[in-house]
Amino acid sequence: MRRTYFSEKVRDRALSEARVQKRKLAADVGVGTGFITEGLIAHGVEVLAIDESLRMLQVLRRKAFSAAGPHCCLGSAEYLPIRSGAVDYVFANMCLHHVVHPAAAIGEMARILKKGGTLIITDLDEHTFVFLTEERTDQWMGFRREDMRAWFAEAGLKDTMVEYAGERARVPSDCTDYSADISIFIARGKK
Ligand SMILES: C[S@@+](CC[C@H](N)C(=O)[O-])C[C@H]1O[C@@H](n2cnc3c(N)ncnc32)[C@H](O)[C@@H]1O
Repeated sequence: MRRTYFSEKVRDRALSEARVQKRKLAADVGVGTGFITEGLIAHGVEVLAIDESLRMLQVLRRKAFSAAGPHCCLGSAEYLPIRSGAVDYVFANMCLHHVVHPAAAIGEMARILKKGGTLIITDLDEHTFVFLTEERTDQWMGFRREDMRAWFAEAGLKDTMVEYAGERARVPSDCTDYSADISIFIARGKK
């Protein structure tokens, strides 16, 4: 499904913005079927794959790239099951708009980063497509970039950048003739 919504460009941008290096450790929050994790493994990065859905982790485990061993963890973005200062990078692609308390989740993502570590969030800009909250589990109709900047600052992150990721998400409605076309932002902060 993801392939029809947006392309690998989002992942390429996320990984290059973090300047990922081999043998470093990343957390992929809201890992889903492992879109970001697959790219991280291809770059030689070790991955802690976190999702609140056991079903998604089961699907992830069956993916070919999982043979290279992402460590799967069941847990919520708002209470990450990882010790403080443990990872070099945190990625959350298209997860935050499903989270009830995004500011708390960003605080948790910052907590688990090592000093000097990088947080990368890629998600939807604020939009008006109500059907996404009705038909899917979206909690938020995207985000305002100024809110992202404020939440990164609250979490103690520095060198924050929030801008257009160079890609749009195109999501058709299951029940109506509507189709959403929403710009995707990338947010980066350093601990
Ligand atoms: C739209 S999918 C994105 C999956 C993946 N990151 C990708 O890029 O394809 C959102 C994922 O976030 C997970 N999720 C939603 N709310 C969460 C939360 N509060 N904590 C952890 N995971 C959550 C869902 O189970 C789902 O796997």
